[in-house]
Amino acid sequence: MLVSAAEMLKKAKAGKYAVGQFNINNLEWTKAILLTAQELNSPVILGVSEGAGKYMAGYKTVVGMVNGMLEELNITVPVALHLDHGSYDGCMKCIEAGFSSVMFDGSHYPIEENIAKTTELINITREKGMSLEAEVGSIGGEEDGVVGKGECADPNECKSIADLGVTMLAAGIGNIHGKYPANWEGLSFETLDAIQQLTGEMPLVLHGGTGIPEDMIKKAISLGVAKINVNTECQLAFAAATRGYVEAGKDLEGKGFDPRKLLAPGFDAIKATVKEKMELFGSVGKAC
Ligand code: 13P
Repeated sequence: MLVSAAEMLKKAKAGKYAVGQFNINNLEWTKAILLTAQELNSPVILGVSEGAGKYMAGYKTVVGMVNGMLEELNITVPVALHLDHGSYDGCMKCIEAGFSSVMFDGSHYPIEENIAKTTELINITREKGMSLEAEVGSIGGEEDGVVGKGECADPNECKSIADLGVTMLAAGIGNIHGKYPANWEGLSFETLDAIQQLTGEMPLVLHGGTGIPEDMIKKAISLGVAKINVNTECQLAFAAATRGYVEAGKDLEGKGFDPRKLLAPGFDAIKATVKEKMELFGSVGKAC
């Protein structure tokens, strides 16, 4: 059964580790992430962007697929199904479809409007036992057509949103979605520290997990980050492995064209990437 992310993140923050949110795109992605979490006895959050939800034929299809896998694959570790960077309407649709967690990204609204919309969603999600992530300060880079500059959040605005009673808070600290450019200045730990000082127990969320050096990940966790989002890195691993298979001409050998064979190296590559991240984030063995 899907669970809210509240409990797993509270434990992660207290235990000084982070739970990974891995974004899904299709059946192979979902199965690879769930099986890896189960093998490593780690809690996990499946992220679905609005674009990926549309690609997978809608949120109800996603809920059906994930719930089916939890049962058929005997997944017993805590799993949250979470809308990533949702609009207000997107959140409402996912709440209705059976997600267990949503992110309302109001970072592009003036802070008053972000607060008003976040408050409405807190009331609705709380009643349903779901978790809610809010965002202050846009995350840089481009994701599903949403382009952010990578600004640093105002710690006082973070406190205003945290005090409303959200479950977890994403705050821009110079992080960027996708690959980091060569001239990237790194995460602003000064901003992160100031945010944690003001928000206390609130689990903080680090977006743009792809390509952040290990020492920065560890430092971010030590300063209150309890959820780290990874998307692009699984895509790159999948693409490289699939390219290797095709370039080696394996799809032309025997029944190598069978999608179950063609997609197998990419599936294994996602599993390896998720394992590496779970080990780095410290969530291995933390499922109960
Ligand atoms: P990356 O694609 O950079 O890993 O970012 C993922 C993310 O933050 C999803 O919200």
